[in-house]
Amino acid sequence: MNTLSSPHDRVLSGMRPTGRLHLGHYHGVLKNWTRLQHEHRCFFFAADWHALTTDYETPQQVAEHTYDMIVDWLAAGVDPGSAVLFVQSRVPEHAELHLLLSMMTPLGWLERVPTYKEQQEQLRERDLATYGFLGYPLLQSADILIYKATMVPVGEDQVAHLELTREVARRFNHLYGREPDFEARVQGALRRLGKKQAQLYEHNRRAYQERGDDEALAVAQALVRGQTGISIGDRERLLGYLEGSGIIVLPEPQPLLTETSKMPGLDGRKMSKSYGNAIALREDPDTVAQKMRTMPTDPARVRRSDPGDPEKCPVWGLHQVYSDEARRDWVQEGCRSAGIGCLDCKKPLIEAVQAELAQFRERAKPFEDDPGLLREIVAAGCEQAREVARETLDEVRQVMGLGYR
Ligand code: TRP
Ligand code: SF4
Repeated sequence: MNTLSSPHDRVLSGMRPTGRLHLGHYHGVLKNWTRLQHEHRCFFFAADWHALTTDYETPQQVAEHTYDMIVDWLAAGVDPGSAVLFVQSRVPEHAELHLLLSMMTPLGWLERVPTYKEQQEQLRERDLATYGFLGYPLLQSADILIYKATMVPVGEDQVAHLELTREVARRFNHLYGREPDFEARVQGALRRLGKKQAQLYEHNRRAYQERGDDEALAVAQALVRGQTGISIGDRERLLGYLEGSGIIVLPEPQPLLTETSKMPGLDGRKMSKSYGNAIALREDPDTVAQKMRTMPTDPARVRRSDPGDPEKCPVWGLHQVYSDEARRDWVQEGCRSAGIGCLDCKKPLIEAVQAELAQFRERAKPFEDDPGLLREIVAAGCEQAREVARETLDEVRQVMGLGYR
């Protein structure tokens, strides 16, 4: 196994299929994914089961939304040659892990997740007093743990779900991460490390266990993770032994906080389809120009000769995303002195957005022209994901006593 695909740096993230994506998704999430895909082994998926937890009465749209969303990922530069792209419901292993985790997850943990009550309040018109909705965050835990993902790029609103995932992993490892001959296997793994590395490992493990030296723990973890010559099983034993528990079957993931998107909508509020202030990634150029030309500006600038204040103008928010310092200075100066008109101010922005969208459209085109191509990429991604998921699930079944035939 090469270092790229070793489990310690797997990245996983999911998105509920809501249809076509907009520039807010691009600047908030997708740009980040396109960077991560070159740095780590990445898994990105459409969380269609999660969509059903709230939209179970209208499942007809799920397929279309899923494919529209994935084309937008591709349009944004997510590369199926670098990242595994798949659909949750086509990797049924997630569901089995969800079921198995549900056996040992206290009900209170789920009831206490803040999004549970909040969402029920917000979506009052739907009946969300369902078993599936309560289990939403646990299904998310299964999504993450089945790939042994260590990094999960998400927004602030998902942090509570990550915290639950960590607790579930800890409880799982505590309950099932014991092998009858654990100590002997650890000793074997240490021999395979080689004398020098083993001594370093022992030294740091003691420092952590005897004095709670967190730095020593980090050093020893890095040492173990840096070993390319040992098996995954040995790696997990050595990691588990550091903290005194048994083997770590399911590693605890960390959230990789995505900066909240600085991309404002056309009216200055957060860009969102439901506010009607969004520019879609595959919006046609005329509509984009029209939307941007008619964008509201500082209400104090009634006439061209009235000075304005960029801080009170949604257009300024866009300059912060698309313009370099020189152009931002030009806007500040020109607006406050009424030296430029609002259309002058918007012109370079419209060009920048159009150039960005042109690139998206170009990348999307092969998939729009040939839906079969898209289906193939997704099918291949599902297969790749399943292989990894099956491996974890086999281990989970074993340690939970279900390995018998
Ligand atoms: N709950 C996430 C959201 O609404 C989507 C999601 C489902 C997810 N499973 C996941 C995100 C696993 C990260 C990891 O945005
Ligand atoms: Fe807004 Fe630019 Fe007009 Fe100033 S000049 S009000 S920043 S659009």
